[in-house]
Amino acid sequence: SENIRRAVTALQNGEMILLFDLEGREAETDFTIPATAVKPSDVRWMRNDAGGLICVALDPDASEKLGLPLMADIIREANRSNSALSRIVEKSGDLKYDSRSSFSIWVNHRDTRTGIPDNDRTLTINKLGEVVKNTLDGENIHFGNEFRTPGHVATLRAAKGLVHERMGQTELSITLAKIAGITPAMVVCEMLDDETGNALEKKDAEQYGNDHNLVFVEGEEVVEAYEIWLSSQ
Ligand code: 5RP
Ligand code: CA
Ligand code: ZN
Repeated sequence: SENIRRAVTALQNGEMILLFDLEGREAETDFTIPATAVKPSDVRWMRNDAGGLICVALDPDASEKLGLPLMADIIREANRSNSALSRIVEKSGDLKYDSRSSFSIWVNHRDTRTGIPDNDRTLTINKLGEVVKNTLDGENIHFGNEFRTPGHVATLRAAKGLVHERMGQTELSITLAKIAGITPAMVVCEMLDDETGNALEKKDAEQYGNDHNLVFVEGEEVVEAYEIWLSSQ
């Protein structure tokens, strides 16, 4: 659709878009921008105007090559030496909107100091984009040479089957990156309502998009565009 074309062009230009998942799922809208394009002013914008958690969604193949598992799997494994963890880790039925979360580990780039200021988070985010790009280009990267955990940027591991498997902004944003032909490492941050503290309602997120000249796309449009893109590959 024309709207998806606008979103793809914006992402190719390194610009922010707004990405809604689905009614009946989270029904949340995330600020979404390519990791390689993020500047400190974008981190400031996300924390001030979006207000959610700043995360970086990562391509499934790159995540696998870099050795970044789902956090829930790490905790399940750690349960062998700490049995309290088995009661804490998420299990099916815990999430009201999906069968599992997409969280992987929290990281800081090794050249950051505390990790939280806008320039520290920007460095971590930009470098995540860089290692995803280099990994997919065939380089053999040791993730731990550049990053340490715990850190202040959440990584999200996209499902192997992308939107065929899961309809979170994790997969939706990586699917858009594939269609756009850009590095599949995407920053997402939920839009919250400053009056109520709830997730910003869809109509209000669309209004924000109009006011700030940002493309607003929905999960269903992404899926439709992905099928067309797949059939053209
Ligand atoms: C991390 C989240 C967000 O909802 C984000 O959109 C990624 O999660 P999902 O792919 O499940 O939508 O929980 O802040
Ligand atoms: Ca969420
Ligand atoms: Zn989400």
